[in-house]
Formats: sequence, C-alpha cells, structure tokens
Amino acid sequence: MARAPGICKVIVDAGVYKLSDLVPTGTCVHVEGELKVPPEGTKQKIELRVQKVIDVGPVDAVKYPLPKTKLTLEFLRDVVHLRPRTNTISAIARIRNALAYATHTFFQKHGFLYVHTPIITTSDCEGAEKLEKELKENPPPSAADIKAAELVVKEKGEAVAQLKSAKASKAEISSSVAELTKAKENLLKLEERFKLGERWRLSAGFPKKDGKIDYSEDFFARQAFLTVSGQLQVETYACALSSVYTFGPTFRAEHSHTSRHLAEFWMVEPEIAFADIKDDMNCAEAYVKFLCQWLLDHCYDDMEFIAKFIDKTALDRLKMVASSNFYRITYTEAVSILEEASKEKKFENAVEWGIDLASEHERFLTEEKFKAPVIVYNYPKAIKSFYMKVNEDNKTVAAMDVLVPKVGELIGGSQREENYEVLRARILEMGLSLEPYEWYLDLRRYGTVKHSGFGLGFERMILFATGMENIRDVIPFPRYPGRADL
Ligand code: 4AD
Ligand code: MG
Repeated sequence: MARAPGICKVIVDAGVYKLSDLVPTGTCVHVEGELKVPPEGTKQKIELRVQKVIDVGPVDAVKYPLPKTKLTLEFLRDVVHLRPRTNTISAIARIRNALAYATHTFFQKHGFLYVHTPIITTSDCEGAEKLEKELKENPPPSAADIKAAELVVKEKGEAVAQLKSAKASKAEISSSVAELTKAKENLLKLEERFKLGERWRLSAGFPKKDGKIDYSEDFFARQAFLTVSGQLQVETYACALSSVYTFGPTFRAEHSHTSRHLAEFWMVEPEIAFADIKDDMNCAEAYVKFLCQWLLDHCYDDMEFIAKFIDKTALDRLKMVASSNFYRITYTEAVSILEEASKEKKFENAVEWGIDLASEHERFLTEEKFKAPVIVYNYPKAIKSFYMKVNEDNKTVAAMDVLVPKVGELIGGSQREENYEVLRARILEMGLSLEPYEWYLDLRRYGTVKHSGFGLGFERMILFATGMENIRDVIPFPRYPGRADL
C-alpha cells in the first residue's frame, strides 16, 4: 500500500469493472493487480494495473461532503470525520505518528522509563487554583458590558460601510476596518470571560460547607481536575527509578482563540534525575534535533509533500535545526535585546524586566533576532510556577523555554526545587494551600534529589516541523472554545 500522497496510480480497464462506480471522489476500492514502475516522466512513483476488483464502497458524488475542488483547512474543520481522507491531513497524521515513534525511540534509547500519569488529578501543576483568585480580583463582565461592546462593533461596522459607499481613501477604509477588527476581538474576549464568570457564579449555588464548596458528595469525594501536566506525578517515579517520561493528553481551559492553543493537547514530559537546568537544556535540544532528523530519515515523502504545498522552507528548517546549536540567553539578556529592539519596532506589549514574555516577543527573538531556536532561561520567580528552583539571586528561578521560528514557545521546563523549606515557602507564597501538595513535599522530605524536566507541546512540534498555520489542523480531533466534535 502506498502510504505517502500521490505515490501510486491505479489503472483499471473498462473491461474489468464498471468505471463510473469507481471514480467518484471518496469511493473505497479493494483491488488486486500488478505493481509496475511507470514510464519515465510520470508523476507517480508506482502504478497498479488492476486485474480484479474485490470490493467497492460506493459514493453518491452529489451528496459527498468533500467536493473535488481544492478545499481549505478551515472548511475541513467542519468535517473532522472525513478530513483524514485528504492529502494534507493524511500527511500530517503520518508525520504525527512518526514523531510519536521518534519520541519513544529517543527516550528509550537514553534509558528513560515510560510512566503513565493520571488524566484526573487532585493537585494543580500550573496554577488553575489561581483562576478563582483572579476572578475575584478582576470580576468578569456583566451582560450590560457585553451589550455595550456589541454596540461598539455595530457602530464600527456602520462606519466601515459608510466609508466604503462614500468611496473614501484606501488608508481611511483600512484604518476603520482595523478598528472594527479590534472591537470584534474585544467582544469575543468579553464573551468568553462572561461565560467563565457565569460558570463561576453558578458554582456559588453548589452545596457549601464552612463557606466552601462541599465536594464530599462528588464522585471522588473531593475536588478533582483534568490534568494540565503529568509533571508532578511523574516526579514521584523520577525520585524512585531515575529518569522517566510521560506522554499523554493534557487539558487547559485557555480562553484564547489563537492558532497555537488547544483546550486538549498532548505533551511529552521527561523528568531527569540528578540533573540541573543545564542538563535539562541539553536534553531538550538533543530531543528536538533528534525529532527533526527522524522526519528527514523516516518521513521524507510526506515532508516533500508538505514543502511543496504547505511551507517551502519546511525541509530546510528541519535540516538547519538538526545540525546547528540552539542559542542560549538568560531572561535578563532577552529583555535587554527586546528593549533595544523596541526603539525601532513597536511591540503591542511593553517590555520591561519582570514581564511574562508575550508571543510577539518570543517570535521576535527566534524569527528576527537569531533566526534559529533560542533557549531563554532564568526567568523572574514572580511569573513562574511554585515548583521551580529558586536561584541564588533569590529573584529568578531555573526555568527555561525553548523558542522556535513559526511557533514561539515549543518547550517549557525547569530545574525543580528540591529543598523542602524553600518549596514549602513557595507554595504558601503563591497563595496555594499545602494540603494537596503534602505528597509532593514528601519527595523532598525523604531522600530528596536534584532533578529537572520539561514539557514539549506535541502539536506545537508538528506546527514547527510542517509550517502548518493552525494547531487545530495537526491534532485529529481538536478541542477549543465552543468546539468539541465527535
Ligand atoms: O510551559 P508549560 O505550561 O509547562 C508545563 O506544563 C510543565 N509542567 C512541563 C514540565 O516541566 N514537565 O507547557 C509545556 C508546553 C508549552 O511549551 C507548549 O508547547 C505546550 O506545552 N502548551 C500548549 N500546547 C497547545 N495548547 C495549549 N493550550 C498549550 N499550553 C501549553
Ligand atoms: Mg510555558
């Protein structure tokens, strides 16, 4: 069976089967015949001369939801059950499969043990508890706020229409369109926050005990979440068996409609015993290079297809990344570079030491300044999670992000705080309660060990490898605000 797109041509003589039953797009045919190398200059690499048609799954061409014309990826998002039949989505499926195989090969080759971490968890790795606090400090919009924002959109829309009918200048029209787009984005944001607020207000009606929601009647008899990361749990195995990794689905209620975020995505998370932040960066770099080389060695036909139809630079990018060193700069250095750059370039988010780097900053560093992968490390502790190792300066933590062109942040990782007292203080300082983390503190109470790890967003790796624009097209069944098909 030809696995890569456009490789095989199937030739059926009219005497063998009724041709009109075989040709409609989407028809399933099970045939037997002779494989031949086609004559020189033929597009396909191989052809199959059919001798017998064993089975046919017919299609009513009028009703088939995928027309034969070129289909956009946006269109295909509305038919997720049929889109794997298209060239692009099937190439992505094979590349995804190859990257998963490569992931296991890389870690197994280096002696890491694969551990399955839970999907349902009672501890929170990346700060979901903070949501409640954030909502209290920053109340969600009311229905009246939404109405007002809708009115602004309406006004801006009318202004665009007026300018157009008055044949105003191109500049006037495009600045008015930009205002309309901004107003629409603002409305979308408000609506999402409103929905979030509604759910939060609803929870006010839940059974209460001592002023808090009483979860004792729930399925687990306590509050439980879908996991945002397998890290905390996988650390328990790293602290027993040495280096391990987990690879599974993770969930984030991201209320952002970006081309880089999903509500359900897959993450590869190694946890390395006896390793510091430098070892962590070395491992991340070696792993990403291995993945790139793997695609060149094992998925070349699909990558050629991608280079032809999706992103001309995809193959060169893989070769470049597989063979060159990643740049490494501290957060402080990154901020100086961005401050210098902002003298000439306008960033939407102002730059100063202490900010969480925005996507536009990350992409500037990797796409414009270095034009290569960059690892930024030693971030301010105030913007990072409680478990990250506090550096001697007591201002920064041993965290690192791998930034790559096309995507921005591909990997986030850190050295873990292995000192019991410091970790305990950090949990409290972040406003979290100790109880759900007692087991995590035990890992430091008893036989603590220096260790580090990171998480690679699997879909972001596929975006990076293929140059696909939208993360919703590189996962078989995308979940994002308002959508969970099948
Ligand atoms: O940087 P993050 O939040 O790190 C962690 O979760 C750590 N606990 C990992 C660890 O140290 N074991 O997430 C890791 C990566 C990001 O760099 C990004 O590539 C991806 O996960 N990611 C997402 N991918 C798709 N959709 C989302 N909503 C994502 N959020 C994070
Ligand atoms: Mg991160």
